[in-house]
Amino acid sequence: MRFENRGVLITGAGSGIGQAASLAFATEGAAIAAADLRLEAAQVTADAVEELGWPAVALQVDVTQPDSVQAMVEQAVAGLGSLDVLINSAGVREIVPFLELPAEEWTKVIGTNLTGTFLCSQAVAQHLIAQNKSGKIINLSSVAGLMGVPNRAAYVASKHGVVGLTKEMGMELADKHIQVNAIAPGVVETAMTAGYFDKPDIVASLKKAHPAGRWAQPEEIAKLMLFLASEDADFMTGATIPIDGGFVAGKAI
Ligand SMILES: NC(=O)c1ccc[n+]([C@@H]2O[C@H](COP(=O)([O-])OP(=O)(O)OC[C@H]3O[C@@H](n4cnc5c(N)ncnc54)[C@H](O)[C@@H]3O)[C@@H](O)[C@H]2O)c1
Repeated sequence: MRFENRGVLITGAGSGIGQAASLAFATEGAAIAAADLRLEAAQVTADAVEELGWPAVALQVDVTQPDSVQAMVEQAVAGLGSLDVLINSAGVREIVPFLELPAEEWTKVIGTNLTGTFLCSQAVAQHLIAQNKSGKIINLSSVAGLMGVPNRAAYVASKHGVVGLTKEMGMELADKHIQVNAIAPGVVETAMTAGYFDKPDIVASLKKAHPAGRWAQPEEIAKLMLFLASEDADFMTGATIPIDGGFVAGKAI
């Protein structure tokens, strides 16, 4: 049990990777604060954690809003007793050609994926430093944070931004014993990608894009989070780790 007596705050916990992470950390003994824009979805995750026999609280948050983020961190601390790990999994993605991308859509995607990661990380880091505690922050970038993907200008820009923000936080928080790393998954089967899998042409191109010949399940991403949040990763900070079946390793010619 690597995370007994540890509190883990997970945004976007009502679905996909954030939900899988909540269950994975609970299985290793952590208390979970499951936060999401959709409180009912966060509650489903918190209930599933409690069924495993570990404490959980469900929290409503809009990660784009500083006041909402501040309230989430205060409620997480009150509910968990100890807050040690933050997972920034809340995210949204557009599929719109660059020339047609409305400014509001750009603002929403950057606001959620990049500004949200900044706001949640800053609030948790300030809490950890005030308590004189060490901690871990894990950000969700993407293969779209390491290379372009057509029709996803805001998403690609936001995920590249997360890579840069992770480096910056890694540097500025290292002497505070807070390690910050990012994960860059290839395609993972979640609500975000649900529209892909019933379309034979997309399925074929996904298999080609991942040299492993398949996409990932969210539980596979959660396993890397467990490592990055553990003491085994104490000397890792500012890094972005692809977990992508070889997606960014090279391009077929
Ligand atoms: N699924 C993939 O293929 C994939 C690949 C690489 C990276 N990612 C990243 O992983 C993270 C999780 O993705 P997922 O596939 O689990 O997506 P998902 O759509 O299944 O879950 C995202 C969750 O974020 C919540 N959310 C959205 N906006 C929010 C806001 N403003 N405040 C709080 N919560 C908000 C949603 O309600 C939802 O529950 C995202 O950052 C995504 O970009 C996903």
